[in-house]
Amino acid sequence: MSIKIVSPFALPLHNAINILLAGDLIAIPTETVYGLAADATNDQAVAKIFALKNRPTFNPLIIHLADAVLAEEYVMFDERARLLAKAFWPGPLTLVLARKPGCAISLLASAGLNSLAVRVPADPIARKIISDLKRPIAAPSANPSGSLSPTRPEHVFKGFFGQSNPKLIVDGGACQGGIESTVVNLITEPATLLRPGLVSSEQIESIIGPLGTLIESDNKILSPGQLLKHYAPQTKLRLNANTVANDEALLAFGKAVLPGAAKTLNLSATSNLVEVAANLFAMLHEVDQGQFRAIAVMKIPMRGIGIAINDRLKRAAQD
Ligand code: TXA
Ligand code: MG
Repeated sequence: MSIKIVSPFALPLHNAINILLAGDLIAIPTETVYGLAADATNDQAVAKIFALKNRPTFNPLIIHLADAVLAEEYVMFDERARLLAKAFWPGPLTLVLARKPGCAISLLASAGLNSLAVRVPADPIARKIISDLKRPIAAPSANPSGSLSPTRPEHVFKGFFGQSNPKLIVDGGACQGGIESTVVNLITEPATLLRPGLVSSEQIESIIGPLGTLIESDNKILSPGQLLKHYAPQTKLRLNANTVANDEALLAFGKAVLPGAAKTLNLSATSNLVEVAANLFAMLHEVDQGQFRAIAVMKIPMRGIGIAINDRLKRAAQD
């Protein structure tokens, strides 16, 4: 089965909406690069993004919204965020803000962090799809990890040729911007630039004052996915478990579940790694309420998205 490239004019856009509602992926044009889009509230759909891109870590995704008012439903806006949104949205600026309690966006999308990257894209096709869907869209660049970003539908097609997703590529021609959005972290005071992009630091500083510099010397690497200890639960985590004690919680994998745990959750009874990724953070949260001495995790195979899952588990288990 090959990926279809469709014109937004030839295609009733509700086809694209139905694919998203069914938990599958489409590629959409944005003013920066093509995005690999999923319903941001659906863990399974978000997990498909990580699997398809072969993203090397659970590097968090950007959430695309129809407008700033909707963004305020999911993240804590402060005055700086309001000013930047007013100046640059819709447009190629991504703001990293704290998740609101009860935020409906998949924890996997934000890699289990308490923060969330949000933006309101300017591209009219992207905007139409987001507003028709009536849900936020998680969309990293629509390319396999590590390769060039896609700015034309053909780039996306080439990147994912022979795969079962995305189900279609909405053809918006060449992207206007061609490089990814500027990412600004507003959790810090002063704000810091996480990724330079189409909106310059000068433009940002003209609105909210000087940006802070990131100090990389103490291992504060730009991408949250690169920190050694990260995504760590409060409870001690034990990996590649072959046995489990009766005061431990077990995150099992596959059919041969270890006996004897105080509580067992199965990451995927069918050994499906996409399902493991979708379940991982939610299940860790569930057993990390201080009720168990430790959390034991059965071995997860190091293939495909399993490499990313093990990378996350390793960081989570780091002392
Ligand atoms: O222009 C763009 O931003 C494109 C289009 C499709 O919107 N998207 C894009 O996504 O470039 P991606 O996944 O390739 O890059 C997302 C960047 C990464 O550098 C990631 O680390 C950062 O945003 N990011 C996302 N959530 C974050 C968070 N909670 N904290 C810090 N950085 C975050
Ligand atoms: Mg990218």
